[in-house]
Amino acid sequence: MDNSLPRHIAIIMDGNGRWAKKRFMPRSFGHRAGAQTLNKLLKEADKIGIEHITVYAFSTENWVRSDDEVNTLMNLLKEYIEDYIKDNSKSNIKIDAIGDLSRLDEDLQNKIKKLEKISSHKKGLNLHIGLNYGGRDEIVRAAKKIFEDIEKGNILKNDINENLFSSYLDTKNIPDPELVIRTSGEQRLSNFLLWQSSYSEFYFTDKLWPDFDIKELNNAIEQFKNRDRRFGGR
Ligand code: FPP
Repeated sequence: MDNSLPRHIAIIMDGNGRWAKKRFMPRSFGHRAGAQTLNKLLKEADKIGIEHITVYAFSTENWVRSDDEVNTLMNLLKEYIEDYIKDNSKSNIKIDAIGDLSRLDEDLQNKIKKLEKISSHKKGLNLHIGLNYGGRDEIVRAAKKIFEDIEKGNILKNDINENLFSSYLDTKNIPDPELVIRTSGEQRLSNFLLWQSSYSEFYFTDKLWPDFDIKELNNAIEQFKNRDRRFGGR
Protein backbone atom coordinates (compact mmCIF):
# COMPACT_ATOMS: atom_id res chain seq x y z
CA MET A 1 0.00 0.00 0.00
CA ASP A 2 1.18 3.51 -0.86
CA ASN A 3 1.14 5.31 2.50
CA SER A 4 1.51 8.72 0.95
CA LEU A 5 -1.80 8.39 -0.93
CA PRO A 6 -4.82 10.03 0.67
CA ARG A 7 -7.16 7.33 1.95
CA HIS A 8 -10.16 9.59 1.60
CA ILE A 9 -10.80 12.32 -0.98
CA ALA A 10 -13.84 14.62 -0.68
CA ILE A 11 -15.04 16.35 -3.84
CA ILE A 12 -17.17 19.43 -4.43
CA MET A 13 -18.25 18.79 -8.01
CA ASP A 14 -18.84 22.39 -9.06
CA GLY A 15 -19.38 23.95 -12.47
CA ASN A 16 -21.91 21.67 -14.20
CA GLY A 17 -24.20 24.59 -14.99
CA ARG A 18 -21.44 26.73 -16.50
CA TRP A 19 -20.18 23.75 -18.51
CA ALA A 20 -23.64 23.33 -20.04
CA LYS A 21 -24.07 27.06 -20.62
CA LYS A 22 -20.84 27.19 -22.62
CA ARG A 23 -22.43 24.61 -24.91
CA PHE A 24 -25.78 26.45 -25.09
CA MET A 25 -27.37 23.50 -23.35
CA PRO A 26 -29.69 23.30 -20.31
CA ARG A 27 -28.19 22.86 -16.85
CA SER A 28 -29.49 19.28 -16.73
CA PHE A 29 -27.07 18.45 -19.55
CA GLY A 30 -24.20 19.57 -17.33
CA HIS A 31 -25.39 17.52 -14.35
CA ARG A 32 -25.72 14.44 -16.56
CA ALA A 33 -22.17 14.95 -17.86
CA GLY A 34 -21.07 15.44 -14.26
CA ALA A 35 -22.47 12.06 -13.24
CA GLN A 36 -20.52 10.41 -16.09
CA THR A 37 -17.35 12.18 -15.00
CA LEU A 38 -17.86 10.83 -11.50
CA ASN A 39 -18.19 7.28 -12.81
CA LYS A 40 -14.98 7.50 -14.83
CA LEU A 41 -13.15 8.96 -11.89
CA LEU A 42 -14.34 6.31 -9.47
CA LYS A 43 -12.88 3.58 -11.65
CA GLU A 44 -9.52 5.35 -11.81
CA ALA A 45 -9.48 6.16 -8.10
CA ASP A 46 -10.30 2.54 -7.26
CA LYS A 47 -7.45 1.37 -9.49
CA ILE A 48 -4.87 3.57 -7.77
CA GLY A 49 -5.99 2.49 -4.31
CA ILE A 50 -8.07 5.35 -2.93
CA GLU A 51 -10.34 3.86 -0.27
CA HIS A 52 -13.04 6.53 0.15
CA ILE A 53 -14.54 9.25 -2.00
CA THR A 54 -17.25 11.55 -0.67
CA VAL A 55 -19.10 13.73 -3.16
CA TYR A 56 -21.41 16.66 -2.59
CA ALA A 57 -24.35 15.77 -4.84
CA PHE A 58 -27.07 17.86 -3.20
CA SER A 59 -26.66 20.25 -0.30
CA THR A 60 -29.16 21.40 2.33
CA GLU A 61 -28.96 24.76 0.51
CA ASN A 62 -29.68 23.39 -2.99
CA TRP A 63 -33.47 23.27 -2.42
CA VAL A 64 -33.68 26.96 -3.33
CA ARG A 65 -32.81 26.16 -6.96
CA SER A 66 -35.71 26.09 -9.44
CA ASP A 67 -38.19 23.21 -9.07
CA ASP A 68 -37.11 22.11 -12.49
CA GLU A 69 -33.45 21.80 -11.51
CA VAL A 70 -34.18 20.14 -8.16
CA ASN A 71 -36.36 17.57 -9.97
CA THR A 72 -33.68 17.00 -12.57
CA LEU A 73 -31.08 16.33 -9.91
CA MET A 74 -33.37 14.00 -7.94
CA ASN A 75 -34.28 12.09 -11.10
CA LEU A 76 -30.66 11.86 -12.11
CA LEU A 77 -29.83 10.37 -8.73
CA LYS A 78 -32.63 7.85 -9.07
CA GLU A 79 -31.36 6.90 -12.52
CA TYR A 80 -27.81 6.63 -11.23
CA ILE A 81 -28.95 4.27 -8.49
CA GLU A 82 -31.12 2.21 -10.86
CA ASP A 83 -28.20 1.84 -13.28
CA TYR A 84 -25.95 0.69 -10.45
CA ILE A 85 -28.51 -1.84 -9.26
CA LYS A 86 -29.06 -3.14 -12.80
CA ASP A 87 -25.33 -3.54 -13.54
CA ASN A 88 -24.43 -4.29 -9.96
CA SER A 89 -22.42 -7.42 -10.75
CA LYS A 90 -20.03 -5.33 -12.90
CA SER A 91 -19.16 -2.92 -10.10
CA ASN A 92 -16.71 -3.25 -7.30
CA ILE A 93 -17.79 -0.02 -5.62
CA LYS A 94 -19.58 0.19 -2.30
CA ILE A 95 -22.02 3.09 -2.01
CA ASP A 96 -23.87 4.80 0.79
CA ALA A 97 -25.48 8.19 1.36
CA ILE A 98 -24.79 10.82 4.01
CA GLY A 99 -27.07 13.73 4.92
CA ASP A 100 -30.60 14.12 6.21
CA LEU A 101 -32.27 11.61 3.94
CA SER A 102 -35.66 12.06 5.64
CA ARG A 103 -36.43 15.09 3.45
CA LEU A 104 -35.97 13.14 0.21
CA ASP A 105 -39.02 11.62 -1.46
CA GLU A 106 -39.94 8.12 -0.37
CA ASP A 107 -39.06 6.55 -3.70
CA LEU A 108 -35.52 7.94 -3.54
CA GLN A 109 -35.16 6.92 0.11
CA ASN A 110 -36.17 3.35 -0.79
CA LYS A 111 -33.79 3.27 -3.72
CA ILE A 112 -30.95 4.42 -1.45
CA LYS A 113 -31.73 1.66 1.06
CA LYS A 114 -31.73 -0.94 -1.71
CA LEU A 115 -28.48 0.43 -3.14
CA GLU A 116 -26.76 0.38 0.24
CA LYS A 117 -27.89 -3.19 0.85
CA ILE A 118 -26.87 -4.48 -2.57
CA SER A 119 -23.46 -2.85 -2.48
CA SER A 120 -22.67 -3.57 1.16
CA HIS A 121 -20.55 -6.65 0.43
CA LYS A 122 -18.42 -4.96 -2.27
CA LYS A 123 -14.70 -4.89 -1.67
CA GLY A 124 -13.63 -1.87 -3.74
CA LEU A 125 -13.68 1.86 -3.19
CA ASN A 126 -16.32 3.31 -0.86
CA LEU A 127 -18.39 6.07 -2.40
CA HIS A 128 -20.31 8.29 0.03
CA ILE A 129 -22.89 10.51 -1.63
CA GLY A 130 -23.88 13.71 0.17
CA LEU A 131 -27.64 14.09 -0.28
CA ASN A 132 -29.50 16.87 1.46
CA TYR A 133 -26.18 17.12 3.24
CA GLY A 134 -24.96 20.17 5.15
CA GLY A 135 -22.07 20.22 7.61
CA ARG A 136 -23.88 22.45 10.12
CA ASP A 137 -27.06 20.41 9.82
CA GLU A 138 -25.08 17.22 10.43
CA ILE A 139 -23.51 18.72 13.57
CA VAL A 140 -26.90 19.90 14.88
CA ARG A 141 -28.44 16.45 14.23
CA ALA A 142 -25.51 14.85 16.07
CA ALA A 143 -25.99 17.22 19.04
CA LYS A 144 -29.68 16.28 19.23
CA LYS A 145 -28.89 12.55 19.15
CA ILE A 146 -26.33 13.01 21.93
CA PHE A 147 -28.88 14.91 23.98
CA GLU A 148 -31.42 12.11 23.48
CA ASP A 149 -28.88 9.51 24.57
CA ILE A 150 -28.10 11.54 27.69
CA GLU A 151 -31.83 11.79 28.46
CA LYS A 152 -32.20 8.04 28.05
CA GLY A 153 -29.22 7.49 30.34
CA ASN A 154 -27.18 5.77 27.61
CA ILE A 155 -24.30 8.21 28.04
CA LEU A 156 -23.20 10.87 30.52
CA LYS A 157 -22.40 14.51 29.80
CA ASN A 158 -18.80 13.81 30.77
CA ASP A 159 -18.54 11.09 28.11
CA ILE A 160 -18.74 13.78 25.43
CA ASN A 161 -15.42 14.30 23.71
CA GLU A 162 -14.28 14.62 20.09
CA ASN A 163 -14.29 10.88 19.48
CA LEU A 164 -17.77 10.43 20.89
CA PHE A 165 -19.06 13.42 18.95
CA SER A 166 -17.59 12.01 15.71
CA SER A 167 -19.40 8.75 16.33
CA TYR A 168 -22.73 10.60 16.14
CA LEU A 169 -21.99 12.13 12.74
CA ASP A 170 -23.17 10.63 9.43
CA THR A 171 -19.53 9.83 8.71
CA LYS A 172 -19.04 7.74 11.86
CA ASN A 173 -17.39 4.84 10.05
CA ILE A 174 -15.37 6.92 7.60
CA PRO A 175 -11.86 8.33 8.19
CA ASP A 176 -11.59 12.12 7.81
CA PRO A 177 -10.73 13.26 4.28
CA GLU A 178 -7.04 14.10 3.90
CA LEU A 179 -7.78 15.93 0.66
CA VAL A 180 -10.72 18.10 -0.42
CA ILE A 181 -11.03 18.97 -4.11
CA ARG A 182 -13.22 21.74 -5.49
CA THR A 183 -13.58 22.42 -9.19
CA SER A 184 -14.65 25.46 -11.22
CA GLY A 185 -12.44 28.10 -9.63
CA GLU A 186 -14.48 28.58 -6.45
CA GLN A 187 -12.40 28.43 -3.28
CA ARG A 188 -14.73 27.77 -0.37
CA LEU A 189 -16.09 24.83 1.60
CA SER A 190 -19.81 25.69 1.25
CA ASN A 191 -20.90 23.75 4.33
CA PHE A 192 -19.29 20.47 3.18
CA LEU A 193 -17.78 18.15 5.84
CA LEU A 194 -17.11 21.02 8.27
CA TRP A 195 -16.11 18.85 11.21
CA GLN A 196 -14.24 16.27 9.15
CA SER A 197 -12.08 18.69 7.12
CA SER A 198 -10.35 20.30 10.12
CA TYR A 199 -6.94 19.15 8.90
CA SER A 200 -7.66 18.45 5.24
CA GLU A 201 -5.48 19.75 2.45
CA PHE A 202 -7.35 21.63 -0.28
CA TYR A 203 -6.95 21.42 -4.04
CA PHE A 204 -8.70 23.98 -6.20
CA THR A 205 -8.83 23.86 -9.97
CA ASP A 206 -10.44 26.09 -12.59
CA LYS A 207 -11.64 23.04 -14.50
CA LEU A 208 -15.42 22.68 -14.53
CA TRP A 209 -16.54 19.39 -12.98
CA PRO A 210 -17.55 17.60 -16.22
CA ASP A 211 -14.00 18.26 -17.54
CA PHE A 212 -12.29 16.83 -14.45
CA ASP A 213 -10.22 13.81 -15.44
CA ILE A 214 -7.57 11.38 -14.25
CA LYS A 215 -4.81 13.86 -15.13
CA GLU A 216 -6.37 16.40 -12.80
CA LEU A 217 -6.84 13.75 -10.09
CA ASN A 218 -3.16 12.86 -10.37
CA ASN A 219 -2.23 16.56 -10.11
CA ALA A 220 -4.28 16.86 -6.95
CA ILE A 221 -2.64 13.76 -5.45
CA GLU A 222 0.86 14.94 -6.45
CA GLN A 223 0.26 18.32 -4.79
CA PHE A 224 -1.08 16.55 -1.73
CA LYS A 225 2.06 14.41 -1.50
CA ASN A 226 4.22 17.54 -1.55
CA ARG A 227 2.35 19.31 1.23
CA ASP A 228 3.92 19.49 4.65
CA ARG A 229 1.15 18.32 6.97
CA ARG A 230 1.90 19.45 10.50
CA PHE A 231 -1.47 19.08 12.26
CA GLY A 232 -0.74 22.06 14.48
CA GLY A 233 2.77 20.83 15.31
CA ARG A 234 6.00 22.28 13.93
C1 FPP B 1 -22.66 22.04 -8.78
O1 FPP B 1 -22.61 22.62 -10.06
C2 FPP B 1 -23.19 20.70 -8.86
C3 FPP B 1 -24.29 20.24 -8.20
C4 FPP B 1 -25.10 21.09 -7.28
C5 FPP B 1 -24.78 18.87 -8.38
C6 FPP B 1 -23.75 17.80 -8.52
C7 FPP B 1 -24.38 16.61 -9.12
C8 FPP B 1 -23.83 15.80 -10.05
C9 FPP B 1 -22.45 15.89 -10.53
C10 FPP B 1 -24.61 14.72 -10.70
C11 FPP B 1 -25.29 13.76 -9.85
C12 FPP B 1 -24.45 13.10 -8.84
C13 FPP B 1 -24.39 11.77 -8.64
C14 FPP B 1 -23.74 11.23 -7.44
C15 FPP B 1 -24.98 10.83 -9.62
P1 FPP B 1 -23.51 23.88 -10.35
O2 FPP B 1 -24.82 23.42 -10.84
O3 FPP B 1 -23.57 24.75 -9.13
O4 FPP B 1 -22.71 24.57 -11.51
P2 FPP B 1 -22.55 26.14 -11.75
O5 FPP B 1 -21.85 26.70 -10.52
O6 FPP B 1 -21.69 26.21 -12.96
O7 FPP B 1 -23.91 26.70 -11.94
